[in-house]
Amino acid sequence: MSPRRIPAATDAVERRETPLTITVDGEPVDGIEGQSIAGVLLASGRRAWRTGRSGAPRGVFCGIGACFDCLVTVGPERDVRACRRRARDGDEVRTQARGEER
Ligand code: FES
Repeated sequence: MSPRRIPAATDAVERRETPLTITVDGEPVDGIEGQSIAGVLLASGRRAWRTGRSGAPRGVFCGIGACFDCLVTVGPERDVRACRRRARDGDEVRTQARGEER
């Protein structure tokens, strides 16, 4: 999955961009309506936002909801696959680490 987007000004289909802002561990991150949470994170330059059991960094692996590497907490909901959840303006996203208490 590429974090690059075609700028709206050069988009051949004249797509419009509606900006949104989510917070990730309390830090505001800007995105575009229609992006997944993973898409917003990748576009902001993040490649990993979770750690596995070994402590290895995890982010997007499959990008289609099959591997669970991209899990985040959104509001009160834990274990949300960031690649499958469309970002909504105001989402409060928290990163997770394996072995954390629930
Ligand atoms: S990247 Fe595999 S489930 Fe999200």
